[in-house]
Amino acid sequence: MQGRPGVGSALVYSPYRNPYSQSEAMSREASPLTVAVVGATGVVGRTMIQVLSERQFPLGELRLLASGRSAGTTVSADGRTLTVGEATPEAFEGVDIALFSAGGDVSIELAPAAVAHGATVIDNSSAWRMDPAVPLVVSQVNPDDLEGHAGIVANPNCSTMQLAPVLMALRDSVGLERVVVDTYQSVSGTGADALAELESQIRAHVSGEPKTASVYPHPIAFNALPEIDVFLPNGYTKEEWKVVSENRKILGLPDLRISCTAVRIPVFVSHSEAVHVETRDPITPERARRLFGAVPGVIVQDNPSEHGYPLATEAAGRDEIFVGRVRRDVSMADDRGLAFWVVSDNLRKGAATNAVELAELLRERDWVRPASARGARPYQAPGAVEARA
Ligand SMILES: NC(=O)c1ccc[n+]([C@@H]2O[C@H](COP(=O)([O-])OP(=O)(O)OC[C@H]3O[C@@H](n4cnc5c(N)ncnc54)[C@H](OP(=O)(O)O)[C@@H]3O)[C@@H](O)[C@H]2O)c1
Repeated sequence: MQGRPGVGSALVYSPYRNPYSQSEAMSREASPLTVAVVGATGVVGRTMIQVLSERQFPLGELRLLASGRSAGTTVSADGRTLTVGEATPEAFEGVDIALFSAGGDVSIELAPAAVAHGATVIDNSSAWRMDPAVPLVVSQVNPDDLEGHAGIVANPNCSTMQLAPVLMALRDSVGLERVVVDTYQSVSGTGADALAELESQIRAHVSGEPKTASVYPHPIAFNALPEIDVFLPNGYTKEEWKVVSENRKILGLPDLRISCTAVRIPVFVSHSEAVHVETRDPITPERARRLFGAVPGVIVQDNPSEHGYPLATEAAGRDEIFVGRVRRDVSMADDRGLAFWVVSDNLRKGAATNAVELAELLRERDWVRPASARGARPYQAPGAVEARA
């Protein structure tokens, strides 16, 4: 079990050795699976390889795939050196589970091909998330949605991932009326090129050179950019709209009133979020802390007098979601308002760890094959019928 975080004292602590899973027993007893990682040379893909190893996922073969540019290069995994292959439809022959993390275009092109070759895809891009026939799953929020998958399962956006388990605690106890979230997102959320860009701009600043920007429209070093992904006609960015629509789908609340401003900041790893929630029934901060701390994988760090609150640097490298600064939101009446701060490692729980947890759940529940092959009812997103009618 992982130890307590070092910042401040945790008022409530949920141990996060995957408490809702029997993965340890699984790794001892289960017959191994062939797993492919698509985007294996990227920051998320590499983290997926690491998390599979850490959690002792029962791997028969680990097949690493990327574009033709990286085919033939090698990646170290579990003390072995593995050669990266090119992601083509044929590369999925014999694969049980394919973890995709190579961008939306690759997922749109290759995920159906992988399914046609018998693989079940867990996709980390936004390509399939809002398809009403594709389950969008956070492991500790809506694992049962996996049952009806038709070959593709979507892994949520990193900003959604760390928020949904916390909102679930309020949904299930006092009801959610309205949510406003502002994100402070690290550059690793953009990928390897953005990490290099921030580092080079910091070096340029120190040596008095001009800072050149190519990944982002402005220098990210010493800045805050209120633009993540493209702008939509309604004035929101696509990243902000992911937080809106994905939380609604995962929480099964298609009419939830929720708004977001997403901001990129010069942090390497971990996203932070300032959240304001209007609840249906009254709730005190004390009760909210207990509820948050009871969610598997959530740690409450809330000790302001000792400067104890979640920090990006402390969350980096951890699988948990950290919550602190829990207080009454004084702009709402009758104790129906809460404000808090949520931090998590966007590469781990926000991407790789949740994807591997979904693979574990599919394995444990014998749901790796599509619903049609198991006689299970196909998945349908909440509100999807009404929305299409
Ligand atoms: N970073 C995050 O926090 C995060 C969180 C949630 C979701 N995501 C999503 O995860 C995906 C990858 O993100 P990342 O941060 O890991 O990006 P990255 O570091 O830029 O890596 C991209 C990966 O995709 C591969 N790739 C690119 N074009 C390809 C093609 N045509 N065929 C096969 N592979 C191809 C690259 O392989 P080469 O080496 O061959 O170029 C590389 O392995 C994106 O969809 C992103 O939206 C990221």
